[in-house]
Amino acid sequence: MAAPRGEFTSRFGFLMAASGSAVGLGNIWGFPTNAASNGGAAFLFVYLILAFALAYPALMAELIIGRYARANAVTALRSISPGDKSKIAALVVGFTGIITVTFILSFYAIVSGWMIAYFFDPLARLLGYGGVAQWLTTDAILRDAAFVVLFMAVTVFIISAGVQEGIEKWASRLMPSLIIILILLILYVLTLPGAMDGLKAYLVPDFSSIADPTLLVDAMGQAFFSLSLGVGTMLVYGSYISKQENLPTTGGLVALLDISIAVLAGLLILPAMYVALANGVEIFDSQGGLIAGPGLIISVLPALFNTMGVIGIFVALGFFLLMTIASLTSSISMLEVPVAYAVEHHGLQRSKAAAIIGSIVTLISLTIVFNFDPMFDIVVTYTTEMSQPLLGFAFCIFVAWIWRRNDILKEIKQGAPEAEQGLFWKIWPFYVKFVCPVAILIVYFQ
Ligand code: PHE
Repeated sequence: MAAPRGEFTSRFGFLMAASGSAVGLGNIWGFPTNAASNGGAAFLFVYLILAFALAYPALMAELIIGRYARANAVTALRSISPGDKSKIAALVVGFTGIITVTFILSFYAIVSGWMIAYFFDPLARLLGYGGVAQWLTTDAILRDAAFVVLFMAVTVFIISAGVQEGIEKWASRLMPSLIIILILLILYVLTLPGAMDGLKAYLVPDFSSIADPTLLVDAMGQAFFSLSLGVGTMLVYGSYISKQENLPTTGGLVALLDISIAVLAGLLILPAMYVALANGVEIFDSQGGLIAGPGLIISVLPALFNTMGVIGIFVALGFFLLMTIASLTSSISMLEVPVAYAVEHHGLQRSKAAAIIGSIVTLISLTIVFNFDPMFDIVVTYTTEMSQPLLGFAFCIFVAWIWRRNDILKEIKQGAPEAEQGLFWKIWPFYVKFVCPVAILIVYFQ
């Protein structure tokens, strides 16, 4: 009864989809501000090590399970579990992943909605609709609700169209545009007065903060969130990769793209903040740290764009288009996790599954919008700081301790026949077995 499964048509298609999932608000917003408040290049340095040494192996675990099982997260985890107990654990982990990603999407949709509203603001001003522009940029429940609905509708629309016609097609259009917009914005911002101070804040390392445990915790959380790990997203995307594809290389490219775009985003956001400072905009909070939360994107940067005159309108358009694209290619990957499960496990039609689950997420988002202050932070903390690292830990345990090593090797060898002699197979099994779980737990209990 299960519908025929989709498959990405090319390596490029998969790379765009997976890096689209990875590159999101976490890269363009989270990474630069984390770096700025944790010793600049010192954070960058620790982040690079953690991303390659911990997040990449965990990413590979998900991709390999997914492609082996060619199924949604729950079915896939069950299929690599030999005994009854491990099958129950698989069910629990798979479902926790589905629920976690559903809640991540519900807060992500709110923030993404802001990005669309701020994208329409310069358009409205350009067309002379000052009142509309005012409404778009004034924090209000009605505005947030309207844009959550709009954002979720677009996400559902893309996911309804399927793996090739939806995810792959849109990611292949949107990701190259994102990279071009990002580079153009960097080049422009770096020419403005004050930009060099931002570059310094970003790139001159303050190694005194390396010993600070919060740096480690922040860097790991950032790496896991940024590579979309633990919640089954990469597992499901992995299940659509062709058996001819070389997994270690392709996964490496996804990690590389994600990390590079985060590093590039730092070259935009921090210089932009210091340009804002040079233009008289407040960029430090009451404790003297850089403004990092929602205030950064929806007050500091818009205030900067407003000081730039007509050019500012176009810079704002470009910037919020960038943010909207980054959000959308991530949100579709989140919605795909429960949809794949509903389609494969309950035989639901894809478009129906997308509409039903999309509506549920929208309802949760709206509940948060209406109770923003108590709920938003709680949902973010529970999903990204508590659930996601534990799930990442569970995935490593499944691959390294529960799954049969021979099956893993066989799976990797499809598309990479020489893998057994390669560096990846020498290092990775040890990493996911010992280094990743221990490191995740240590950092988690910090
Ligand atoms: N990686 C995305 C980002 O950086 C967020 C994400 C988390 C996407 C979990 C999918 C699953 O914004």
